[in-house]
Amino acid sequence: MTASPASDRNHYAVAESAHAPKHVAIIMDGNGRWASARGLARSDGHREGVKAARRAVEGARDLGLKYLTLYSFSTENWRRPAGEIRDLMSLLRQFIGDDLPRLKDEGVKVRIIGDRENLSPDLKALVRRAENETHDNTEFFLQIAFNYGGRDELIRAARAIAKAFKSGAVGVQDLTEESFNSFLDTHGVPDPDLVIRTSGEKRISNFLLWQAAYAEYIFLDVLWPDFDAKLFAEALGEYCRRERRYGGVGGAG
Ligand code: IPE
Ligand code: IPE
Ligand code: MG
Repeated sequence: MTASPASDRNHYAVAESAHAPKHVAIIMDGNGRWASARGLARSDGHREGVKAARRAVEGARDLGLKYLTLYSFSTENWRRPAGEIRDLMSLLRQFIGDDLPRLKDEGVKVRIIGDRENLSPDLKALVRRAENETHDNTEFFLQIAFNYGGRDELIRAARAIAKAFKSGAVGVQDLTEESFNSFLDTHGVPDPDLVIRTSGEKRISNFLLWQAAYAEYIFLDVLWPDFDAKLFAEALGEYCRRERRYGGVGGAG
């Protein structure tokens, strides 16, 4: 018998772990630097980034995860040059357009989280179509964070709660962590167990501020277009070796 590759070994480690992760969220960073290092345009980096995102969806399913959240455009990314913003919008358009039939057939439920009010009418319609057409799928849950900011999400939730309070639908005592959760874009999806960020930056850049309160974090010195199944499996292997204590004393205590 030949030795199993590292990715397989990690797969078993994940499957056998007492606390196998269900939900991984990824800050896909480093497309621009990947392109610069090759003398290419930033848009080429973003295009490669989409390929890496496809690999990540496949990898997540192979590794036995149930939920994957990909951060692809932040509320702060509007600060970029207009041309780059246009490229990033087109790539979402292309990703949904090209991949929707396959995702649909493979049982993937797609949800876009973030504020869609500022998206163009065609993109809004496409996002709605992706969600409607995959609504009943249960095999795997893919959340794409687009025009997403953790603070923006919390403010939108607070506004919705204030409105519900004013109409009498929600009372002050009804507000609990659980009911608050139901006002978030991510309602119904468990908190991420692990947040991975590529590119070597060690910050969360306004990602899932509420949901990732107790997530494990892994920061990789790899630019997003170079992220692959092996790195994904290794990250999950590392996650499985960590002890999550949630404020308690843990196994050794
Ligand atoms: C991540 O890559 C993609 C988005 C934030 C949209 P970047 O475009 O941030 O790449 P770097 O960080 O400049 O290398
Ligand atoms: C974070 O990357 C947002 C996404 C990956 C979509 P950025 O490149 O925008 O983050 P900063 O500016 O380095 O914090
Ligand atoms: Mg960046």
